[in-house]
Amino acid sequence: MQRLTLSKIYEHPIAKKYVARAGLDHAIATAFSAYDFALREGVDVDLATKAAFLHDIGHYTWYRNGEWDFNLYAENDIHAIKGAERAHKLLIRLGEDRKSAKEIALAILLHTDSYLPQGHLHLDPLQQVVALADQENEEPDGMHHYHHISEERAVLRLQQLDRRVEESKTLQLDKKSS
Ligand SMILES: [Fe+2]
Repeated sequence: MQRLTLSKIYEHPIAKKYVARAGLDHAIATAFSAYDFALREGVDVDLATKAAFLHDIGHYTWYRNGEWDFNLYAENDIHAIKGAERAHKLLIRLGEDRKSAKEIALAILLHTDSYLPQGHLHLDPLQQVVALADQENEEPDGMHHYHHISEERAVLRLQQLDRRVEESKTLQLDKKSS
């Protein structure tokens, strides 16, 4: 079966709409970090980069009088739950393997514990990689959500990461079978 690529995912209008909402640049930067962490930790690079790219697609816009209201957000946000569900639906629609879609959705669900009453999660290696990649690309006051990246550059970066995933995936599979 042909791998569902990040580029292909990004072509879908649902991905376009919701990845942009929390910042396309942040999503791509997080996917690149997840790739590096995954390679280091022996985690599946395909799953890690997809989960990282889609990790914030559950965001809602918490604006009051044209300004982002952090209190409204902190009290009501469930972006990890919403994102896990949205990503899962999108991936299944695009023909992703069901087991992979579930693992990606779980990594998105657990990438933050900010929505839990008392957050203490035990993460498996894939989930850890995605959470770390997100943390690495966070900036004070949520500024990482506002970096601009042009559409052309975004598409090129995703193609570049797709090539790396493709190469490493082959190596990872070789290692497993030897
Ligand atoms: Fe994030």
